[in-house]
Amino acid sequence: MDNTAKLKKIRIDDLEPGMVIAHDIYSSDRRFLLIKKGTILSKDIIYGLKRRGVKEIIVQEREFGDQALKLPLPDDMVKKEGIPFSYPASLEKRIFFNYKGKVILKIDDPEIHNTKVKAIKTVHSILSNVVKEKVVDVESAKDTASSLINAIMKNKNAFLNIAGMRMVDEYTFVHSVNVAAYTAIIAREYGIEGEELELICLGGLLHDVGKMLVDPSILNKPGRLTDREFEEMKSHPVRGYNILRENGVEDNIAVIARLHHERCDGSGYPDGKTCEELPLSAQIAAIADVYDALTSERVYKKAISSNNAMMIIISESGKHFNPELVTLFQKTVGIYPIGSFVKLNNGYIARVIDQNEGIVRPVIQVMFDDTGKKLGDQMVINLMDSKDLYIVESFQDQKAA
Ligand SMILES: [Fe+2]
Repeated sequence: MDNTAKLKKIRIDDLEPGMVIAHDIYSSDRRFLLIKKGTILSKDIIYGLKRRGVKEIIVQEREFGDQALKLPLPDDMVKKEGIPFSYPASLEKRIFFNYKGKVILKIDDPEIHNTKVKAIKTVHSILSNVVKEKVVDVESAKDTASSLINAIMKNKNAFLNIAGMRMVDEYTFVHSVNVAAYTAIIAREYGIEGEELELICLGGLLHDVGKMLVDPSILNKPGRLTDREFEEMKSHPVRGYNILRENGVEDNIAVIARLHHERCDGSGYPDGKTCEELPLSAQIAAIADVYDALTSERVYKKAISSNNAMMIIISESGKHFNPELVTLFQKTVGIYPIGSFVKLNNGYIARVIDQNEGIVRPVIQVMFDDTGKKLGDQMVINLMDSKDLYIVESFQDQKAA
């Protein structure tokens, strides 16, 4: 875009995917850059702006006409450096995506898959034991945290592709493993390493252990909780902290269970602590917990799409969450998460395979053309490098046939 491009003020209801934002948009407290100047609007970004109460924005006319919508993918934007695969008939099949000479992702990598399944089973048995015996098997939890960290260190992107792991009935166990994984990934991006990283992952794994001590009829109630039931539910952080301490878990880990429902502005529970008073680990776990809860289906609610969940996390930056950690989280997980499917402005359907600094322009792999025909020779494109291609829509948590 050049400086002579025309600017237009557009009401939020008149915005359309493909329009280009002409100025940076900040959160209401001006502390956090939400969307950068030059971002191309997608349906999801427009939805996010509406949610935040934005009434109108200034857009810039695009340099190229609507023909771009009908053009096939230009060859010079397509990176085909030896992509030796076709999409799997089976989820178990090992696939490699080769981009610029390096393997960047193994979707459905059986090893990662097995690590997750094993972790979920172990958490199931640990938490069931808390119900039956009021005992926490800390050693098993530590082993699980350690194997999760090993897998994440090996291939973070494959681990972030967690959409396929969601099962409604097993919510608490899957959620515990997901929170542990997200917590560890953010902590690692923050620069935490070694034993400290494993301990934070352990804290994520056991953050909701106190829920095992809450009356199950309240825990699994599909309808709205009464005030008394809600108070009982809100007791789980302190109960979790207490049982972890009774089982010899160090205070700096047990506090993750106690403080994961606190909020940066001091409006959380149980202690009403602010960001300045909260340990970093609990602040990270809070983001991981909310994001995974939003994107999970429950007996009483549908899952929210990952990019809308990210918009909600961003809109709570500085209120519920630490702004610095929100930035780190969105850079790592992205608005379009790894493994999700997106529609491009030329009608092609692609799968997100890696993130970029520019969170709305990830690395994608084109799967289907604009007639819905599966492409035999699937192409990897870095949207940062392609001026004319952009995402207009995302299909969350859907799988290619
Ligand atoms: Fe919780």
